[in-house]
Amino acid sequence: MEQFSLKPEICFGPDALDVLDGLTGRVMVITDEFLAKSGLLDRVLSHLKGCTAECFTGVRPDPSLELVARGARALADFQPQAVVAFGGGSPMDCAKAMLYFGRRLGAGEGVRFYAVPTTAGTGSEVTSFAVLTDTAKGVKYPLVDKALLPHTAILDPGLVAGLPPAVVADTGMDVLAHAAEARVARRATPFSDALAEKAFAMAYQNLRAAFDGPDREQARGEMLLASNLAGIAFDAAGLGICHSLAHALGGRYHVPHGRLNALLLPAVIAFNAQDARAAEGYGQLARRCGLAANPRALAAALSRLRAALGLPDRLAGCGVERSALEADGPAIVQAALGDLCTPSNPRQVTGEELRGLLRDLA
Ligand SMILES: NC(=O)c1ccc[n+]([C@@H]2O[C@H](COP(=O)([O-])OP(=O)(O)OC[C@H]3O[C@@H](n4cnc5c(N)ncnc54)[C@H](O)[C@@H]3O)[C@@H](O)[C@H]2O)c1
Ligand SMILES: [Fe+2]
Repeated sequence: MEQFSLKPEICFGPDALDVLDGLTGRVMVITDEFLAKSGLLDRVLSHLKGCTAECFTGVRPDPSLELVARGARALADFQPQAVVAFGGGSPMDCAKAMLYFGRRLGAGEGVRFYAVPTTAGTGSEVTSFAVLTDTAKGVKYPLVDKALLPHTAILDPGLVAGLPPAVVADTGMDVLAHAAEARVARRATPFSDALAEKAFAMAYQNLRAAFDGPDREQARGEMLLASNLAGIAFDAAGLGICHSLAHALGGRYHVPHGRLNALLLPAVIAFNAQDARAAEGYGQLARRCGLAANPRALAAALSRLRAALGLPDRLAGCGVERSALEADGPAIVQAALGDLCTPSNPRQVTGEELRGLLRDLA
C-alpha cells in the first residue's frame, strides 16, 4: 500500500502570524542570534503579548548535537505549552530536535509546535526531517521521524522580503534541489509529483527575480510558497544523492547547504538520467519550465541559473581545496553512502561512482 498524508496546517499570507494571537501560557521561541537582533523577532513577539515568552536565541547554522542537548534541557526547565521555531532551516531543525529529545527529559509532550520560516528555503516547516551536525566527527545526519512534524506552518512573505541576495541564492537553489530530487525519487507518487513539478516551476521562474529583480519582494513571496510545496513533496517521496553528498560535504567543510546542492545538482541529474524513469521525470520538469523536455536541457538551465546567481561551479569555489578533498574523499563517500537520502535515489550508487562525481567537481 502506498500512502500520502499531510500533517501541518499551513497558514500563509501577510497576516499569517495572526494565528499565534490566541496563544496563552508559556511559549518558547527558538531562533538564531541574527534574527533576534534584526527586529524580525519582534514581529513574532508582538503576537505573543498574552503569553509568558522565553527566547532561546543560541541557534547556529547547521545545529550541533551539543546545541540540541543544551536546548532540550532549556525546554525541560521552562516547560512551555507551545514552541515557535523562527528562522531558516537551522532554527527550525534545532527546535524539532529539541522537542524530540526534550520529551525524554520530561518536556515537549502535548506541546503545540509552530514553525515560521524566514528563508525560502528548506521546507523544514512541513517535513519530518531535522538535519543535525556531529561536530566531532564532521558529519551531518538527517534525523527522520513523523514525530518531528510541526502542528502549524506559518508562511509570512514579509519575513523573507529583506533577505540578503546571497542567502536568497543559496536557499533558492535548495528549493530546486528538493523538487528535482523528489520528482525522481523512489517513493514518488502522483501526489508528490504534482507538488514537486509545481514547486520546481515556481522556483525556476522566480529565483532570478527574487535574487535582484525590481519586483524581488513579490518573487520572494513566491519562493516561500515554492519552498513549502517542495518540502511536502520530498517529505513524501524522499530525496537522493545530491542531498547525501551535500550533507557529507557540509558536515565537514561548513559550506551553506543550498550552495552545495547548487553545485551538485546538474552533475547528479546527468548521473541519474541514465535511469529511464528518472530521465522522464527530469524531462517533465524541463517541459514545465519551457525548456526542451530532456535531462540535458534541465541540467544546463540549472548551471546557467547558478552562474547568474554568482554561485560557484567547483568545490574550490566553496573554499574546499583539491588536496583536502583527496584526503577526506573516502570518509565523505562513506558518509554519503550511509545517508538516509541515498536509498531513495532513483539509481543505486557505488562508492566509486560517488567518488567520480566529487572528482569532477573538485
Ligand atoms: N529539515 C529539513 O527538511 C531540511 C531541508 C533542507 C536543509 N535543511 C538544513 O537546514 C539548514 C540550512 O537552513 P537555511 O538554508 O534556511 O539557512 P540557516 O537557517 O542556517 O540561515 C542562514 C543564514 O541566514 C540568516 N537569515 C535567516 N533568515 C533571514 C532573514 N529573513 N533575513 C536575513 N537573514 C536571515 C540566518 O541568520 C543565517 O545567518 C542546514 O543545516 C540544512 O542541512 C533541513
Ligand atoms: Fe536541502
